[in-house]
Amino acid sequence: MNLLGSRSQHPGWPQPVGPLRVAAGVVRLRPVRLRDAAQWSRIRLADRNHLEPWEPSTDLDWQLRHAVSSWPSVCSGLRAEARKGRMLPYVIEVDGQFAGQLTIGNVTHGALRSAWIGYWVASELIGGGIATAALALGLDHCFGPVMLHRVEATVRPENAPSRAVLAKAGFREEGLLKRYLDVDGAWRDHLLVALTIEEINGSVTSALVRAGHASWA
Ligand code: ACO
Repeated sequence: MNLLGSRSQHPGWPQPVGPLRVAAGVVRLRPVRLRDAAQWSRIRLADRNHLEPWEPSTDLDWQLRHAVSSWPSVCSGLRAEARKGRMLPYVIEVDGQFAGQLTIGNVTHGALRSAWIGYWVASELIGGGIATAALALGLDHCFGPVMLHRVEATVRPENAPSRAVLAKAGFREEGLLKRYLDVDGAWRDHLLVALTIEEINGSVTSALVRAGHASWA
């Protein structure tokens, strides 16, 4: 049995990741859990304007989708994907408090050994290096315990803060995916960025520390 009370076939899961210190505090990644409901719902309901322009559209109403009562099924769905080895759904914690989410998805082993990565941070905490630290921790986890070779991400060209975060982690642009994803009610272009293990020079977190963006906690 693992920490989440069920068997996992997943290298690197459900290990927590971190810590790393940035201006906002000490950042860690840990698996999503059922008791995140109140914090998740409070932030997601308050931050609709901050989050909705960058997230895939759904038919469900934002209020309903982010009610406290919606979390158990969202969380169980994420944990089920994790147990199957397809996803690593993490909460980003800062000084032990829920600050956002980082998700590693479409995990593939064999000759591809690839995944995508995505994240969000509560608006009240932005600008303190949290996403940068979380992404660096997530990437080192992917290239270490999860044993991946390539991690990719997609981002809208208009999303300047997220592009800055991806650039600090060393992501390389591979192209523009035209009308790639239905986001905020329309088919939006996305930049495809990627990183392979050969490009990280040992560790993404170490590179952040060397560049003065973070320090060891
Ligand atoms: N133009 C250019 N750069 C900007 C702007 C702007 N308007 N605003 C902020 N930035 C820069 C900051 O200066 C900082 O870079 P720096 O450290 O080099 O100065 C960077 O953006 C932000 O870095 P962090 O502080 O590490 O990031 P933060 O914790 O603020 O989180 C995030 C950034 C995740 C994009 C947050 O704003 C958020 O949750 N946005 C809404 C959801 C979202 O966009 N998620 C990402 C989707 S794409 C994906 O997941 C791959």
